[in-house]
Amino acid sequence: MATIKVSSPATVANLVCGFDILGLCINEPADIMEVALLKENTIVIRSANGYPLPLDPLQNTAGAPLVQMLKECNINTGFEIIIYKSIKPGSGLGSSAASAAGAVVAANHLLGNIFDKKDLVRFAMFGEEVASGVQHADNVAPCIYGGVTLIRSMFPLDIIVIPAPPLYITVIHPQIEIRTADARKILPERVLLKDAVKQWGNVAGLVAGLMKSDYELIGRSLEDVIVEPARSVLIPGFNEIKKQCKEAGALGGGISGSGPSLFMLSMEKITAEVIEKVMKNVYDKIGIDYHTYVTAINYDGVKIIE
Ligand code: HSE
Repeated sequence: MATIKVSSPATVANLVCGFDILGLCINEPADIMEVALLKENTIVIRSANGYPLPLDPLQNTAGAPLVQMLKECNINTGFEIIIYKSIKPGSGLGSSAASAAGAVVAANHLLGNIFDKKDLVRFAMFGEEVASGVQHADNVAPCIYGGVTLIRSMFPLDIIVIPAPPLYITVIHPQIEIRTADARKILPERVLLKDAVKQWGNVAGLVAGLMKSDYELIGRSLEDVIVEPARSVLIPGFNEIKKQCKEAGALGGGISGSGPSLFMLSMEKITAEVIEKVMKNVYDKIGIDYHTYVTAINYDGVKIIE
């Protein structure tokens, strides 16, 4: 039986100002997935480390993309997927995207790489729909392509990999769960033109800053006047962490995806480690459990490891 093992990394969607259009792939945490080709046209899902994952393929973020993939490839085959989850669902670190992206990359490899990366993102978006009720690509695209990706358009898909200079990412994941579907319900339906102007100035500034390796421009573009004001109220200590991290030398940062994780970008690893201490200190004072990661950009995305 042909089998393959992949490592599927976490991602930071939105990158503060780029709601639904920008995403960044990071080295840690990552899920491990084993996928096997089956002779029967069926999809079997197993959770290897006790996470209660839905076993109906259409209700599972790894299963739904494969159902779509099988529909389009007209090959009478199926897959067994074993998932070792490290990226907690509801963390804001692209947990559902990692399952979806890992599944499609592994399955495509087992089928002889008949689909290109854009197709894989398109399939993986069906997994996002299971998780959050809508298709969005700002986690699955960076997870599959690696690095920083811009989703200029979702329908049809237009994905641009943005060259990015070395950056260190500090993440704190307070141990509360925020479902993306809920975090989307509280977003404003309309935005003022003056806010839109600010926001697209920041998006353009961030993309230009990344491409020019202009760290100061990256830092001052990490501002969100539309989504963050609505969502930050869900995250304890948000303003305090942001303020203290910037004072301690971070370029900037904000909510990772739909939260509750927070991330900060730094130029140097040593600064990213100081930022980790600052974040921990705030949550220790508030009395909230957390996990932290100090990590770097993952330029490869989902990786075949066996
Ligand atoms: N762009 C999505 C959101 C990402 O912010 O709702 C979810 O991880």
